[in-house]
Amino acid sequence: MADHVCHWRHAYLFDNVLRRLLHNPRKLFGSYVGPGSTAMDVGCGMGFNAIGMAKLVGDDGRVIAVDLQPEMLEVVRRRADRAGVAHRVRTHQCSADSIDISEPVDFIVAFWMVHEVPDAGHLLRELHACLRSGGKLFAAEPSFHVKKSAFEEMIRAGEGIGLTVHDRPGVRWSLGVVLAKP
Ligand SMILES: C[S@@+](CC[C@H](N)C(=O)[O-])C[C@H]1O[C@@H](n2cnc3c(N)ncnc32)[C@H](O)[C@@H]1O
Repeated sequence: MADHVCHWRHAYLFDNVLRRLLHNPRKLFGSYVGPGSTAMDVGCGMGFNAIGMAKLVGDDGRVIAVDLQPEMLEVVRRRADRAGVAHRVRTHQCSADSIDISEPVDFIVAFWMVHEVPDAGHLLRELHACLRSGGKLFAAEPSFHVKKSAFEEMIRAGEGIGLTVHDRPGVRWSLGVVLAKP
């Protein structure tokens, strides 16, 4: 695995009581994800956001949790089971250069992951292809690690393939944007 990818052993750092207070998935995503939605958490890690969204989509909705590390996905399945939402969560192991998902989705979260991907432009094109018309991509990057200029460049790359800036949400410790597919 490439050095710049967060190793699964370190991912427990991102999943603690403080984060549950500061990055509450219901507060961040509740206006985009509701009963019946199909959502994707790309670079899901141990599923902090995937499980949060699984609680929002109800029994008619689905969450696809995508990561390249099988150890992360194993934890997602265990946690989803413990949270009673396993039937709403599908895990998918991707490769570093392709998420390899063609299923249409209403909402995608890419949280603290784009900077780890070798070709962000390619990732954005794949995500754009998965989004239904009217769908939204919520991207957040760690502000202590990613420069604002690099984040703005990512947004311009999104605009270059037809996404539009829908919102600039405030996300603690992060740079955040919601891009929409018209
Ligand atoms: C810093 S962690 C963030 C995890 C999670 N999104 C969160 O907010 O807790 C970054 C995650 O992105 C995943 N990742 C890195 N490159 C990826 C790629 N090319 N495709 C899919 N996932 C990737 C890593 O395996 C890791 O789980």
